[in-house]
Amino acid sequence: MTSCSQKPANQAVFHDPHSYANAGQVRVRHLNLDLDVMFDQRTVRGTAVLTVDRIDPHARQLVLDSRALQIDETEISPDGKKYREARFAIGKRDPILGAPLAIDIAPDTKYVRIRYSSSPTASALQWLDPEQTAGKQKPFLYTQSEAIHARSWLPLQDSPSVRVTYEARVHVPAGLKAVMSATNCPDSNDCRFVMDKPIPSYLIALAVGDLAFRATGPRTGVWAEPAVLESAAREFSDMENMLKAAEALYGPYRWGRYDVLVLPPSFPYGGMENPRLTFATPTVIAGDKSLVSLVAHELAHSWSGNLVTNATWSDFWLNEGYTVYIERRILEQLYGKRREEMEAVLGYQDLQEEIKTHAARDQILNINLDGRDPDDGMTEIPYEKGALFLTQEEQTIGREKFDVYLKDYFDHFAFQSITTLESLNYMRSHLFESDEKAAAAIPVNEWVYQPGLPSSAPKPVSQAFIAIDRQIPLWLEGKKIETSDWATQQWLYFLRGLPEHLSAAQMSRLDAENRFTSTRNDEILDQWLLMSVRNHYAAAAGRLEEFLTTVGRIKYVKPLYQAMDLPQAKAIYEKARPMYHPITQASIDAVLAKKEKPKGT
Ligand code: BES
Ligand code: ZN
Repeated sequence: MTSCSQKPANQAVFHDPHSYANAGQVRVRHLNLDLDVMFDQRTVRGTAVLTVDRIDPHARQLVLDSRALQIDETEISPDGKKYREARFAIGKRDPILGAPLAIDIAPDTKYVRIRYSSSPTASALQWLDPEQTAGKQKPFLYTQSEAIHARSWLPLQDSPSVRVTYEARVHVPAGLKAVMSATNCPDSNDCRFVMDKPIPSYLIALAVGDLAFRATGPRTGVWAEPAVLESAAREFSDMENMLKAAEALYGPYRWGRYDVLVLPPSFPYGGMENPRLTFATPTVIAGDKSLVSLVAHELAHSWSGNLVTNATWSDFWLNEGYTVYIERRILEQLYGKRREEMEAVLGYQDLQEEIKTHAARDQILNINLDGRDPDDGMTEIPYEKGALFLTQEEQTIGREKFDVYLKDYFDHFAFQSITTLESLNYMRSHLFESDEKAAAAIPVNEWVYQPGLPSSAPKPVSQAFIAIDRQIPLWLEGKKIETSDWATQQWLYFLRGLPEHLSAAQMSRLDAENRFTSTRNDEILDQWLLMSVRNHYAAAAGRLEEFLTTVGRIKYVKPLYQAMDLPQAKAIYEKARPMYHPITQASIDAVLAKKEKPKGT
């Protein structure tokens, strides 16, 4: 019998619509990098030595992914000592996938050495001028490889179903420090970076800047520019406890250290779960730990995502849905049920909004992304719908039993990349076979393959928000309401609960009562600026421009550009665009293009 759930050890089955790799025939197992980071030329240049495993004895080529890489030379070797030149060919370039890089290999080839450099426009890399950093003295470089950007700075099989170990030497200009998603060297600048656990390519990461380290516990710490180190360490001081909470639920943390690198504000995401070293936006440093759910989220990926990985980008919900579920469990453990409930309700609101604005086919967990950029699959659907699915399982099966199930799931699939189907097969045999009641109550296929939400989907509620539902009408009548003990999440719920159209007087009153335009909390600021754009509140225009020309977090800036009219959006974007990471640029370029040419014209 051949069964899909039992993946052959040689992983001969390889199908990833977002990779040209021939990983079913020849598979890369290890990557050895020696790179020069050249700020003047905005290139990373050096050699990559790939250790390969031949799966198909007849294979004559190793096919890799690449995007705008310059390949200078390729060589092959049976022993890693004696190399001889090999022929290579770069195929036709696809706007989304880049181009296949095919290298001729011999029957005895074990090592493939590639001399190459990245393009100044590499989609994974942002090269920052000193003015764009906290210290304003030194330049900065960082990578963002997820989803399919690793191929723009590394020649490799860029599919989440191919896992590699890696080691690296990185040469940087004097006065700068390099860090990676690997073992780091806080006390030495002659670092041999090592990641000895097999990881998918999208987790390979590098940052170079004026970086310093501070411990927050025995296994946790923060890396940041000196100017933000202290505030970051204070904000993230609960990391060690988060780590313990996650371990208590899902078993030992398998990556050694867990550190967070705080990046300059142009970082396109809230956080990126690079193993051993989460990359994070400085916009989560609110001063009161109110936005640290982001750290809980990225830490949770150490199990869901980094240990058990989506095999293709259609299975992205296995990474993000499971992670949001775990994130909320960590929050509940550290900050209590009340906080968890508030976050769950805000997430549910985001999900409802996303369902309203997305086509049916994009509301499906096991989404079809053929012919599309997988970054387009990054909506709230895989996150919040995925988490809600697991919440229903937990509530139906019972928390205790479900916790054991998830822990076993992570053990069973540890360091593997799996498809939706494999996860569901495991679920059916380990969760539902012995529990007919649960099997009947949970519409698994509807959750995974249908748009919208099943009618039995749980609907999160928050007592803390019910009180606000009563206060909103009072405020609209002009009454003063008691807000002195409100948490960030309550402010967000309040602002979201106000009518979409407010008068100039109401906007001014909100600002006068709460000083939103000058808030230090970027989550509240973002919500406020969105309301300001929609209601043409001129007093916030300066802060809006300042925000959009410094912060590049897509989740914040994209809705703001969407809400602005074309002339205003264009005027600000002209100034802001050079500050953004290529991924943010691509995302906002698309927003403006859509504004220029609305559908149907
Ligand atoms: N892995 C994602 C970021 C990502 C997804 C990058 C897809 C590229 C493509 C990360 O874990 C994430 O989900 N970040 C969120 C954090 C939030 C849910 C707490 C973000 O950046 O907003
Ligand atoms: Zn995530």
